[in-house]
Amino acid sequence: MGKRLIAPSLLAADFGNLQHDIEMVNASEADWFHLDIMDGVFVPNISFGMPVVKAIAKHAKKTLDVHLMIVDPDRYIKEFADLGADVLTVHYETCNHLNRTIQAIKGEGMKAGVAITPHTSVHLLEDSLEDIDLVCVMSVNPGFGGQSFIENTYNKVSALKELIEKKNTNTLIEIDGGVNATNAKRLVEAGANVLVAGSFVFKSENPTLTISELKKEIA
Ligand code: DX5
Ligand code: ZN
Repeated sequence: MGKRLIAPSLLAADFGNLQHDIEMVNASEADWFHLDIMDGVFVPNISFGMPVVKAIAKHAKKTLDVHLMIVDPDRYIKEFADLGADVLTVHYETCNHLNRTIQAIKGEGMKAGVAITPHTSVHLLEDSLEDIDLVCVMSVNPGFGGQSFIENTYNKVSALKELIEKKNTNTLIEIDGGVNATNAKRLVEAGANVLVAGSFVFKSENPTLTISELKKEIA
């Protein structure tokens, strides 16, 4: 069995009390922090930028998984490395020379992730797979938390898992959008390694327990 991790997305956290929610994740069974950076151009929403990432990094004690939903991500690779990102994920749809971008991320000492929107085929990543540390399969159209999970994601995960096995790479599969206790198990059974969960965790009555519930589902 491969790695199975939970990454709460702080997009759904209480921004008026961010430190409280970060400490909750620190003390929970969660594995990573997932940070969503949106520019209002690639996606129709703006989330938060460098000063907030800096503040989060100061308190967060787990892997920082930064998901860039921005055009021209190459401009900011070094800055995110300096801020403490451990995994930096760019969107396939925003990169003219994806392989060069991946090398630049690794050159800054981070793990390189590539995200694909629900429309983008996993097969488009085949020729760079050995260089990609993580593929983030978006299970909603990127831009907002709280959307419903797209069922075709299961097929994409299975197809990607097959590619990874064929190429014999160590690439992790991450699922982002609409993850909850109902779909978590089936996702890891299809080959997913990292489940991002925003609303399901932070809008629940007891986020710590919800994280444990998700961990149990994927154990
Ligand atoms: C969506 C973001 C997600 C989002 C997930 O564009 O990339 O990380 O926070 O939120 P939920 O789990 O609420 O769908
Ligand atoms: Zn995300």
